Amino acid sequence: MLLPILCYPDPKLHKVAKPVATVDERVHLLVTNMIETMYDAKGIGLAATQVDVHERVIVIDVSEERDEPLVLINPELVWTSPSTHLNEEGCLSVPGIYDGVERFDAVHVRALDLTGQPRTIEADELLAVCIQHEMDHLMGKVFVEYLSPLKRNRIKKKMLKAQREDAQ
Ligand code: NI
Repeated sequence: MLLPILCYPDPKLHKVAKPVATVDERVHLLVTNMIETMYDAKGIGLAATQVDVHERVIVIDVSEERDEPLVLINPELVWTSPSTHLNEEGCLSVPGIYDGVERFDAVHVRALDLTGQPRTIEADELLAVCIQHEMDHLMGKVFVEYLSPLKRNRIKKKMLKAQREDAQ
């Protein structure tokens, strides 16, 4: 089932997600729907926050063939590289906007998989960036909040205008 994606500046995007208590059927269904929604929207990552579910669940697929979904439940960064780089980012909740955000080059993240087992993922390049971007969503943070207030306000106005036009 496709889930509606919240669009910036919806205040619900700023809610802080709670940890998942049990990886049960309900969570499996959420993950299935999130993966379907991410592929349909041609995104490489989606956080539960973006579909108005405020629990720590992320789905990611940075593979070329779009057939390697990665599910992170209750993700925690356990290591970050000392080096960072500026990365051009976009977001399904801020359609059409791309801008640079400083991110760690590599991260290690500990999370539960769909069976509820903890595992540690060592990520670099695009996957590392994507994990950091999606984990921000779980904290109620959208990437445009790293930009200058001037840029952010311009984006906010542009989004609101597009949403008004869509509603007509
Ligand atoms: Ni995003």
